[in-house]
Amino acid sequence: MSDRPAIPVIIDCDTGVDDALALLLAVRHPGLDLRAVTCVAGNTDVDGVVRNTLTVLEQAGAPDIPVARGAERPLIEPARPARHVHGADGMGDLGLPAPTRAPVAVDAVTLLHREILASPSPVTLIPTAPLTNIALLLRTHPEVTRNIERIVFMGGAVATGNATPVAEFNVWHDPEAAAILLTAGVPVTMYGLDVFLRVVVPGTEVHRLRASTDPGTRLAGDLLAHRPTAQGGPPEAEEAGGLGDAGAVCAVADPGGITTSRLPVEVSLAPGPSRGQTIVDRRPRPGESEIHEGTREQTLVDVALEVDVERYVKLYLATVERP
Ligand code: BDR
Ligand code: CA
Repeated sequence: MSDRPAIPVIIDCDTGVDDALALLLAVRHPGLDLRAVTCVAGNTDVDGVVRNTLTVLEQAGAPDIPVARGAERPLIEPARPARHVHGADGMGDLGLPAPTRAPVAVDAVTLLHREILASPSPVTLIPTAPLTNIALLLRTHPEVTRNIERIVFMGGAVATGNATPVAEFNVWHDPEAAAILLTAGVPVTMYGLDVFLRVVVPGTEVHRLRASTDPGTRLAGDLLAHRPTAQGGPPEAEEAGGLGDAGAVCAVADPGGITTSRLPVEVSLAPGPSRGQTIVDRRPRPGESEIHEGTREQTLVDVALEVDVERYVKLYLATVERP
């Protein structure tokens, strides 16, 4: 095992079946020091997200990590939950008991501010949700960037979207917030749909997790086996399941598992069919637009283009099956 100090991380999430998978990985990975979790409206309403997050931490036997409630809607638009994917309770309707833990008495922005500045070494932020809390943080307390190592966010897509043909859900839900994140002035890694969808745990492994006597490991299995209602069929039919947001945590714990390119990325804020699209410029040379109209200043983002699926599946299983 590595003798490097654990990386201080904070997850901002909308738990969320796959956010729950991300939390389970973060609390059990010895190379990560999960210092706080902040919640935002996304997959379900923010109170549901807080409840689900506390439940996951409790089931995982995690230490008393502070959890805070954040924004209940995006900066401009109303909240548009994804319960058809994540179930009525937003976390797969697994019938888990209500948590005995409670959120801290401060809001998400206050907790983020406090924990980032209190960390002895720069924090890596891992947003796995719409970026409303992060945008509010950056606008309220811009000085936090001095103690942020980098932001590795799940969101966006180089190729195809899911919420719309071109827009990924987290960015589509609050495009203005995503635009603020991209221009934060700290290194940003985009773990988008192009890699997100590829990391799938085979059915046999999921089956094994579900049979575990450890509640946290078993929960990982049940979450992986969850199927969106829209897809139909009993969850047992085919147990293979995607790591989803947990892949972004893998990308922090083991950055060598993704291949990134530093590329200009811009969020489309225009109303209409492109709203929420992450426009990634992969052209090898300037085009007619730059030749005739000049270049604009654009943010460069480390965009994940490839992922070593086997490596991340192995990492996930080895971590969540730890005693
Ligand atoms: C993202 O949207 C949510 O449904 C998932 O939790 C993930 O963060 C994928 O588009
Ligand atoms: Ca999420």
